[in-house]
Amino acid sequence: MLKDKTVVIGVSGGIAVYKVLDVISRLRKLGVNVYVIMTKSATEFVTPLSFQSLSQNYVVCDMFEDPKTWDVEHISLAKRADVFLVAPATANVIGKMANGIADDMLTTTVMATKGKVLIAPAMNTNMYENPIVQRNIDILKELGYDFVEPESGRLACGDTGKGKLASPEVIVDEIVKLLSKEQDLKGKSIIVTAGPTVESIDPMRFISNRSSGKMGYSIAKEAIERGANVTLISGPTNLTPPQNLKKLIRIESAEDMYNAVVENLEENQVVIKSAAVADYKPKNYSNKKIKKSDEDLVISLDRNKDIAYEIGKIKKDKILVGFAAETNDLLENAKGKVKKKNLDFIVANDLTMEGAGFGVDTNIVKIIDKDGNITEYPKMKKEEVANVILDKVKSLL
Ligand code: PMT
Repeated sequence: MLKDKTVVIGVSGGIAVYKVLDVISRLRKLGVNVYVIMTKSATEFVTPLSFQSLSQNYVVCDMFEDPKTWDVEHISLAKRADVFLVAPATANVIGKMANGIADDMLTTTVMATKGKVLIAPAMNTNMYENPIVQRNIDILKELGYDFVEPESGRLACGDTGKGKLASPEVIVDEIVKLLSKEQDLKGKSIIVTAGPTVESIDPMRFISNRSSGKMGYSIAKEAIERGANVTLISGPTNLTPPQNLKKLIRIESAEDMYNAVVENLEENQVVIKSAAVADYKPKNYSNKKIKKSDEDLVISLDRNKDIAYEIGKIKKDKILVGFAAETNDLLENAKGKVKKKNLDFIVANDLTMEGAGFGVDTNIVKIIDKDGNITEYPKMKKEEVANVILDKVKSLL
């Protein structure tokens, strides 16, 4: 199964360069095609010839050298990569990638790839812990790049701490996981709603909530990676949308979200409502800034349409998944919502638990189906929760 897969490895300069030879040899034993791009500093540690001998492909080091075969230049390598591994990834190369700098063959090619990018950092502990490096790593993680954490131990410079390149076994395991991701939602069309809605009071002020969009964006990203055609309907967030969406519809209010869901309903088989939709909106929008006075200000609120409820009435055999964000009586409230909104199942998160709900990268959920069956999950990354939800959706399709 891995025989038709290609891994492009970008090697940047660090003492751990030699370990990448082992990664290549393991990948070749699995039948994976491997191409290597080296930065100039990487070639100071190990010669390109060693990489060429193990990968059995010409190693590219220089942007401006004559291509050895006309189809192996940076765009074609970028296109070939099912997975693009950067190992060892130095602070320098991580910084360039996070900030859009493409000034050599490695950074140019990785920027042009649509394959999964896996980054294996290796550097001195103090460098690794430097807030600039950590911020660059966060930027890349937020953009959907995957990382293999460095290990702790004695480093080549004599310091002890985190910064050793992960072992070749661990790196290869991660690559195999990425290459083997099943396309089990191929051809399925899914709407995912994410983030908060914003209900304007006047041109300056609004009512909203603390949803960051992380849960919904993770669902959209994982569904795309499993082959689905995803329409993401998103309230305002600071997140970068996943690549390869079928459609991205940015909305502000609950009414905008309702319209977007209804307009796109017919061509989709599944609707996952992870957005935190405002239940109320100001009764009267003032198109001029409301001036302060000595009196208290009372804002009357009108009910917004309940989108999930409205879709539940017309969904026929489509699958409708809701979320319940609760601070008390989680199960009772969630069960009530499954019934009232005609959901196939609901994902209940208890906002009072640490590591669950708004803003954080993890969630702790219980899934309750329409027959009242409850499955509880431990604290997991939001992308893992996304896969649990998608597994359940798949079983109903
Ligand atoms: O975005 P993050 O920071 O990652 O946080 C994730 C999350 C906590 C927002 C998410 O996990 C979540 O729980 N989303 C739903 C929040 C919510 O609105 O819950 P609710 O119990 O008020 O609504 C129940 C369901 O009805 C939800 O699926 C909601 O999208 C839907 N609803 C609610 C009101 C409304 N007017 N229309 C709706 O469709």
